[in-house]
Formats: sequence, C-alpha cells, structure tokens
Amino acid sequence: MSAPSSSHPAAGSTLDSLLLSAIADAVGTPAYVYHGDQIRRAYRTIDDAFGEVPHAVHYALKANSSLAVARLLRAEGSAADANSMGEVEIALRAGYRPDHIVFTGVGKRREELERAVALELLAINVESSGELDRLHEIARAHGSIARVALRVNPNIDAQSHPHISTGLRDSKFGVPIDLAPAIFDEMTRRPHLRPIGVHVHIGSQITTLEPLVRAAESVLELATRLRRAGIGIEHIDFGGGLGISYDGAPSPTPAEYVVALAGLVRGTGFTAVIEPGRALVGAAGLLLTRVVDVKHFAGSRRFVVIDAGMTELMRPALYGAYHQVDAVLPRAGELVVGDLVGPICESTDIFARNRPLPPLEAGDLLVIRDVGAYGAAMGHTYLRRPLPPEVMVDGGEWRVTRRRQTLDDMLRLEE
Ligand code: LLP
Repeated sequence: MSAPSSSHPAAGSTLDSLLLSAIADAVGTPAYVYHGDQIRRAYRTIDDAFGEVPHAVHYALKANSSLAVARLLRAEGSAADANSMGEVEIALRAGYRPDHIVFTGVGKRREELERAVALELLAINVESSGELDRLHEIARAHGSIARVALRVNPNIDAQSHPHISTGLRDSKFGVPIDLAPAIFDEMTRRPHLRPIGVHVHIGSQITTLEPLVRAAESVLELATRLRRAGIGIEHIDFGGGLGISYDGAPSPTPAEYVVALAGLVRGTGFTAVIEPGRALVGAAGLLLTRVVDVKHFAGSRRFVVIDAGMTELMRPALYGAYHQVDAVLPRAGELVVGDLVGPICESTDIFARNRPLPPLEAGDLLVIRDVGAYGAAMGHTYLRRPLPPEVMVDGGEWRVTRRRQTLDDMLRLEE
C-alpha cells in the first residue's frame, strides 16, 4: 500500500475508470476518494459570488475534517467553522488562525470554552443564557474579553429531513429569536463579553432557497435592530445548510444562494459569514467498494452485497439518503432491480432498496457518489471494521492522505 506521502500520476486528473481501478488495486476497498480540483472550484464559486460584499466563508469542518481537505480549503483562503474542540484543534493544525475560526455547539464543555477563550477565536457562537454566564465567568478568570455571536432560532422549517432540521422552535438549537434582544442587552452589561455577531443555522441539505432567505432576512432585521440599540454587531453568520442534488433533481446552485444573501447584506455595513459544508465538499467525494456477493433465490429479492457498510457511510441508514451508485467498468446487459446492501448485521445497513442496478458479479468495483460530506466524517468501527483509507486526487496525481486503520491502531487505546 502507498505511504501517505507518496504520490502517483493521475492521468488528466479526472476520476475515470482506469484511475479508480488503479486506486482500488493499490489501497483496497472500501476507500474514499476526493477530487481536490472540484473542492477548489466549489470554494471559488461561493467566494466569487459574494462580489464586493464583505464576507467570510467558514468551511464547516464537520462535513469532512480530514486534514488534507481542511488544508486544501485553507490554502484557497477559507476560514473555518468548528463544532467541537477536536475540530478547533484540527483547524489549527490545518493552518487556520484562531481569529479565522468560529466555534458552535449546543453543549460546549467548560474545558472547551476555556480553550476557546484562551485562543481568542473569531467568535464563540453561544446557544443559551446559561452558556453566556459560564463564558463570562471563564473570560473574567482569564482576564480577557470573549467575542460572542448569539445563535438564534427563527422558528423556520428548513423543509429538509427532520433529523437535520434545526430551525424550529422545538429544536434544541439556539435561543428563540424574539428573546435575542434581551439577551444581547444583558451581554452589554458583561465587561468580559463582546457581542459581535448574530448566528443562525436552520438545517442541512436544504434544497429550496425560500427558508434560507427567510432565515437570513430575520437575522438581518435583528442585527439592524441591535445596531440601532448601540450594540456593535459586526457580522451576521448565516450558517450552512445549502443542499446538493444527490439524484439529479434541480436544486439551487451555491451561486444563486450566495447572490441572494449578498443582495440582502450589500450596503448594510455588516460582514456576511457563511458556514457551508456539503456545498463545498459533498459532490467531490466518492466511496470505492467491491461487490462481495450476489444473492438471488427463486421468488425472493436480489441482494448485491458490497464491502462498504453503514460503518463507512451512515447516511442511507440514518436518513434513508439516496446516493447514486455506478459500476466502474460496466458490464453489458439489462438493469436488474435489487437491493444494494452492506455486510453489517443490522437491517438498516442498506444503500439502495429496489434500485435498478447494472449486471454485477462478485469482485466488481462500484462507486457510491457524492459522499465527500458526512461520509468519512461519520464513519465508525462497529464490528471492529477499520476506518477506510482516504485518497486525494489533485493536480494530476493521487496520494493516500489517510491510510487504512489497522487492528493494532484500534487496540492502541486498550489494555
Ligand atoms: N453550521 C452549523 C452550525 C451546522 O450545524 C452545520 C451542519 C453546518 C454549518 C454545515 O451544514 P451544511 O452546509 O453541510 O449543510 N449528517 C447530516 C448533516 C448534518 C449537518 C449538521 N450541521 C447528513 O449527512 O446529511
């Protein structure tokens, strides 16, 4: 297997069948493959669409915090959105400056807040009055002034999957927007807090602009009102959430979304902050996997069993998410309806049910598409399955950016 540092030529740098076969032969399957140029293009599109409007694109590391991806986006000029101290530390190691990092999280522990204060992050996105109290006390003990944005909940339905919708009043995230002015007022009386922003994030994989724009309008209105009250709001953080099309259905483009935001913010004097995850990396990753078995009994379903499972890619099991699947070297023949399933002893370990699949035989190489976001990042080691390798194809070559975990790696934590 290739060491993480060595690189191999990737003809034309497109992810074509030959290249994918070569990668699978070299690193084995399952394996994640990312396309660096595609991530860069996605970043440029978003950044450019803001035009002259003051803005900062904070990559939501939770989508994919592999160092190679984080570094690549840093090199493009991105800032970072972290949702745990682990992600803050990854951002620092990837070269992000503390004042380019915003830190969100519904349950930040004391040690996390202490570290965030010590680092003087760009903003700690605070989720409750209780958290403000704790943060104030920590900042006072530290003798500093913490920059704070308040995460508000605008009670807007993101019209996405309920598991990834966060903007309704009964969700655990943020404070109800109508309570925000009083909380900001309270902040102005805390000498160790400096309120500089308003934050909102109503959900993920949102495929219509309407809820995103409505949320943006409501926080803009709040920020304007706060500024009139003399509070030094500098930025509005519109969160992430823009979806991608997994199945080819029309979906708003990142440029359309950003142009809509820029239109709202232009001329207000506020800086627009966004925290895209999926829109930057989702389409730039695929999961290479091989068919292990094809099971078909008379009168029963046809099961294509692959070597990737919910351990590598949780999205289908968790949200019933659709991902396109293709054979790397298609065989001639009709599509046959079947279930594409993983090897794990859970009935939710299914990638596709009743899907017309190409003719497949054991050993065939497949790609599961659009897994650059929330794929590897949500991977785990159930059944003692090792974390898969990650490969970056970039600038005409490919390299292993994370090797496959070994049992010894896993056991290092045990007695
Ligand atoms: N900002 C905050 C505060 C967030 O909670 C999230 C995502 C983002 C930004 C980035 O959202 P994006 O632009 O990627 O939609 N595991 C799920 C998605 C969970 C999203 C959680 N928060 C999935 O696989 O669809």
